[in-house]
Amino acid sequence: REAPLVLGIETSCDETGVGIVRGTELLANTIASSMEEHARYGGVVPEVAARAHLEALGPTIRAALDEASVSLGEIDAVAVTSGPGLAGALMVGVGAAKALSLAIGKPIYAVNHLVGHVGADLLGDVEPLETPTVALLVSGGHTSLLLVRDLVSDVELLGETIDDAAGEAFDKVARLLGLPYPGGPEIDRAAIGGDPTAIRFPRGLTKPKDLERHRYDFSFSGLKTAVARWVEQREALDEPVPMADVAASFREAVVDVLVGKALAACADLGVPRLLLGGGVVANARLRQVAQERADASGVALRIPPLSLCTDNGAMIAALGARLIAAGHPPSDLGFGADSTLPV
Ligand code: KG4
Ligand code: ZN
Repeated sequence: REAPLVLGIETSCDETGVGIVRGTELLANTIASSMEEHARYGGVVPEVAARAHLEALGPTIRAALDEASVSLGEIDAVAVTSGPGLAGALMVGVGAAKALSLAIGKPIYAVNHLVGHVGADLLGDVEPLETPTVALLVSGGHTSLLLVRDLVSDVELLGETIDDAAGEAFDKVARLLGLPYPGGPEIDRAAIGGDPTAIRFPRGLTKPKDLERHRYDFSFSGLKTAVARWVEQREALDEPVPMADVAASFREAVVDVLVGKALAACADLGVPRLLLGGGVVANARLRQVAQERADASGVALRIPPLSLCTDNGAMIAALGARLIAAGHPPSDLGFGADSTLPV
């Protein structure tokens, strides 16, 4: 029998994502983003995001069905992100998914956004995801390190950021350097030709005493402050700010900590596999350093295509399909949106 056709809805942040999959086959991955509406505020505004989802979701579902060349009646199940994320934004997706499930008389699966990022790796013509694996998920909204023993039944949060997310750090540092939002690509551009060793910016939570309690946690607010101080001092002395060196050195500090902690988890836990996900994976320096150090420590690195790393509905549909394949029961229609949903 053919695998069920699953439609996934993702609205946890500023991307309205609708994906359609059949098993591990990707049929549609349609996205509308309210990023430009947030740009003038320098970051995602929850209320603006929720309203944008409300407007975009109907047309995005329509577009995904067209992209997959299927009709609503052919959908076998609906999957939706129920958390974690922005409460109001999540509610729009959950409400729409429930209505859809009721209307077509098909089951609904509430899924966790972070686990969904891992689900992205199931899609397409790839080797099956081997477990256990460590997963590093880095975006504007989250920075989490997971131990995935079984995608459906056993995912453990090893650590997460105690302040800013990695992408948020890029956004905030870009802003203080006078660069527009989103900051990641801007910092990348500014770093061209810069020396990543020019300035030794702090690596958050890597001192021995921090490692005792926060071995797999991240902190980027101290780094952001250090960049601000460094730039202020230069300006106070009327010296030019070497933008390329500052950008490259800042980026290096973020990448160093992300890769260092992820590979430390692999070594500590004896797990020779690392998976990356989230919008910050767009950073070429992150991918390069992760590959070099993973190779050096005998860890197999997996990075889904970038279109599946940023928030999207296909990863949610993929996880839904996996739940169905594992015989997991559907969700009761009474579930809510949980902005702090644990893995
Ligand atoms: O996953 P995503 O599209 O949306 C969520 O935040 O959920 O990630 C967006 C984040 C933004 O903070 C953006 O600055 C960051 O990813 N980002 C990057 C790069 N491209 C996007 N960060 C570092 N380097 C990049 N090239
Ligand atoms: Zn995400």
